[in-house]
Amino acid sequence: MTESRPDGTEDPREPRRSRYFSTGQNSPAEPESPQDRPVSPQATPPWPPRVSRETSGRRVATASDVAAATAPSPFADEATPLAAAAEHTLLARSNARLRPPEPRPRSTRILVVANQKGGVGKTTSTVNVAAALAQLGQRVLVIDLDPQGNASTALSIEHRRGTPSTYDLLVDQAPLSEVVVTCPDIPLLDVVPATIDLAGAEIELVSVVARENRLHRALRGDPRIGDAESAGEDRYDYVFIDCPPSLGLLTLNALVAGEEMMIPIQAEYYALEGLGQLLATVDMVRAHLNPDLAVSTILITMYDARTRLASGVASEVRGHFGEQVIKTYIPRSVRVSEAPSYGQTVMTYDPGSPGALSYLEAAREIATRGVLA
Ligand SMILES: Nc1ncnc2c1ncn2[C@@H]1O[C@H](COP(=O)(O)OP(=O)(O)O)[C@@H](O)[C@H]1O
Ligand SMILES: [Mg+2]
Repeated sequence: MTESRPDGTEDPREPRRSRYFSTGQNSPAEPESPQDRPVSPQATPPWPPRVSRETSGRRVATASDVAAATAPSPFADEATPLAAAAEHTLLARSNARLRPPEPRPRSTRILVVANQKGGVGKTTSTVNVAAALAQLGQRVLVIDLDPQGNASTALSIEHRRGTPSTYDLLVDQAPLSEVVVTCPDIPLLDVVPATIDLAGAEIELVSVVARENRLHRALRGDPRIGDAESAGEDRYDYVFIDCPPSLGLLTLNALVAGEEMMIPIQAEYYALEGLGQLLATVDMVRAHLNPDLAVSTILITMYDARTRLASGVASEVRGHFGEQVIKTYIPRSVRVSEAPSYGQTVMTYDPGSPGALSYLEAAREIATRGVLA
């Protein structure tokens, strides 16, 4: 089958533009390819040629932008993906100031993003869904719980050794407010970064009593987590916890702290292998540590619409999880994989691209459906 570059390695058709390699400003056209379309099993409208390529630069919104943004949403019309791309580009630039926000959940929803397999899209989905919700006017917190700190990198957050981080939260029981920073590109998005110190936390916590409760206590002790009565208008609407690719003490802390799980599944062979172990762990946590934990959200990532394998995996996942599967599949896309090298999510790097629009649709679905399980 045809494999595009899953790890964001260089595309021979495109010049290098990473901030590490080049001083180029604007992104040239991404090559049109069928698998880059936003994919939904319900509707696959024809994808027209791309609109503006000048999405990596910043500019001030004009009066016509404001008029366009306050007009009825073209997202309601599946037949106008061009308008959707244009609207999201505008939305991303204006950081949700031009439109009223989506309705907020009544209390903070804490989603654990876990799958013990590496490379399935946990971090990519965490940062992009979180950024999309923030662009839709929600207050969002991302907790980077992977010592590799990939979510911190993608959100342009300092995570050198010694930076206040999740390590301090777990090991030294620092209050959340002391380790939180705001994402420079997205004002409604806060982040707790992870440093490499976190790699030692599992060992350091071995002899500690209630070591699996550390993150739960840190979150529940924060005045911005809760409902309107306890946490007020400034409360976080969503907390996303990006887990490492293992089922160790760090992931266990997340499963005890959260109420919902978002499991990204890569539309590839072996996708479902190992899921049994994850679900058995969830059952164990539910039985002994956190009865409220629910697998609410399954997100199919890196979907390649050209292959029968991808649609086969997707229907197998739907057969197993049913309604928990988000209807919008995330396509495999060069833009999604190259955004982190600019310290950005695809939601700001190329807001009109199919990957960004798919994450935006997925975020809307997550926001509107709530907990099903
Ligand atoms: N939709 C996508 N299209 C193309 N590449 C992707 C996509 N989603 C993730 N990737 C790439 O796949 C790799 C693994 O993704 P990542 O989110 O880091 O997985 P995990 O956190 O589960 O280990 C990364 O190089 C990322 O850029
Ligand atoms: Mg990761």
